[in-house]
Amino acid sequence: MIEIHGLVHRFGEAPETTEALRGIDLAVGEGEFLALLGPNGCGKTTLAKHLNALLLPTEGEVLVDGRSTSDPAELWEIRRRVGMVFQDPDRQMVASVVEEEVAFGPENLGVPPAEIRRRIGWALEALGIQALRRAEPNLLSGGQKQRVAIASVLVMEPRYLVMDEPTAMLDPLGRREVLRAVHDLRSNLGLTVLYVTHHMEEVLQADRVVALQEGRVALQGAPSEVFARVEELRNLGLDIPSHVELAWRLRASGLDLPEGLVGEEVLAEAVLRRWRELQ
Ligand SMILES: Nc1ncnc2c1ncn2[C@@H]1O[C@H](COP(=O)(O)OP(=O)(O)O)[C@@H](O)[C@H]1O
Ligand SMILES: [Mg+2]
Repeated sequence: MIEIHGLVHRFGEAPETTEALRGIDLAVGEGEFLALLGPNGCGKTTLAKHLNALLLPTEGEVLVDGRSTSDPAELWEIRRRVGMVFQDPDRQMVASVVEEEVAFGPENLGVPPAEIRRRIGWALEALGIQALRRAEPNLLSGGQKQRVAIASVLVMEPRYLVMDEPTAMLDPLGRREVLRAVHDLRSNLGLTVLYVTHHMEEVLQADRVVALQEGRVALQGAPSEVFARVEELRNLGLDIPSHVELAWRLRASGLDLPEGLVGEEVLAEAVLRRWRELQ
């Protein structure tokens, strides 16, 4: 479990400081898929970097399985448990062949070669990219590169996967590939995922959504609860997926729709049914 208590983060020296996080209390449970949302500059990346001690609290505490990120003696163990994937897959690539890329982390740790081969096979399979084993990373599509980057983290056998806008630089196909892969990892391996995004439609399948605003938690709950609060989301400057907004407007105008989040198909059926009634 990851626990965040009263986390404050200030960048820079007084009087030129930016308070990026202004008191965050949050726990991420075992096996949970938590989506972290919010407009540019609200503190998502700063928060993500605290989870594996890339940044340390100015005030408050971050605990990973009870180990404080502020304790230098725990640094190595925390980094092993919490894998990070960033926006730009190119900046995460170091090798000229996919399998070397994926082997890089465990090789540095001195993991025996046979064990490294086993882990590579397993990680590439988990991400559906076995066929790319001997491919050249810079010839891959964005979605493939990002899945290689995730595989490179997976071979370290983390318990937590923290992803900071992993689809921001991808085309729609790449985005779907990566999102699908992350959900598969979560259901097949029981990984705990903290998924940072500003694409609202990517959070529909999360267990919980947390929206940040100016370094504070502004809104949280199951996707169905959060998306029911359309006005608040709009005030946060977040785009609401068009079918979610449409459902909300139609419900407000009296269309009989199931409670909570409705998918595009359910919505289309309800509209069709109503249309037939009106004929
Ligand atoms: N290294 C830094 N030095 C100074 N200010 C920073 C630094 N990194 C981020 N900030 C500031 O902290 C705030 C939160 O940034 P960030 O966590 O990157 O937001 P997000 O990821 O939600 O876009 C912003 O005001 C940003 O300008
Ligand atoms: Mg960011």
